[in-house]
Amino acid sequence: MKEDIRQAPIGVFDSGVGGLTVAREIMRQIPKERIVYFGDTARVPYGNKSKETITRFSEQIARFLLSHNVKTIVVACNTASAYALDTLEKELDVPIIGVVRPGAKMALAKTRNGKVGVIGTEATIGSGIYDAYIREVRTDAVIYGKACPLFVPLVEEGLWEDPVTEEIARRYLSELIDLDIDTLILGCTHYPLIRSVIGKIMGEDVTLINPAYETAIELKQMLKERDLLNDVEPALGSNPYQFYVSDGAEKFKQFANSIMKYGVLSTKTIHIEDY
Ligand code: DGL
Repeated sequence: MKEDIRQAPIGVFDSGVGGLTVAREIMRQIPKERIVYFGDTARVPYGNKSKETITRFSEQIARFLLSHNVKTIVVACNTASAYALDTLEKELDVPIIGVVRPGAKMALAKTRNGKVGVIGTEATIGSGIYDAYIREVRTDAVIYGKACPLFVPLVEEGLWEDPVTEEIARRYLSELIDLDIDTLILGCTHYPLIRSVIGKIMGEDVTLINPAYETAIELKQMLKERDLLNDVEPALGSNPYQFYVSDGAEKFKQFANSIMKYGVLSTKTIHIEDY
């Protein structure tokens, strides 16, 4: 009986393609796990929407993932983690992990001077959630948030190393450079893909925190503690990763294959409003 639960998939969702940076970390760090991924490509971006809307969307997606009998849900979107995680935790019986707390925890571990920068969507920065988590532990910490809304479309256009991205990044990040931060949280799923541009501008004295990486570590730990970690290799020829979107399946597949070494074989479109 217990065996069955361990072999159940992990549900992972995001407003679109960004959460794939989290999914690929999970694939790297716990390769025996099966994943059902949902990207809300019809309703992206979440970063400029209200708490009510983001929560409603997240509840629908959670219901969809639960219909696939997932053993846990990873909210692989900073914006949804900032606004909907509390509600999902109250409503659902399966354990839920967001990306914000693991990122904040790692920033706390890395910062020496307590001056931490956070970049993300307007909604994530406006929520003040990273500040709240960090200052809960270190009250003298100073958090500087900066919304970088143009990064998401630049990443989705594949302009990861482009001079245009560098120019925009310089404009966004220049105010953080003068603030003496020693740690910068990449508080949006897309930003790890332009990590090298951000790192070049911030300089080597600033530690970049990738919440996607930290989330996969925390997920593994949580599954272990609850005896939910799968130790059975996926059957030969089976496809352990299933991808679903609310629109543009072909475009999603192309993007996914450009960032993941595990081939995204098929992506299905579903009508998320039905859930
Ligand atoms: N996935 C979102 C996040 O991490 C970025 C894209 C969006 O605005 O929906 O905040």
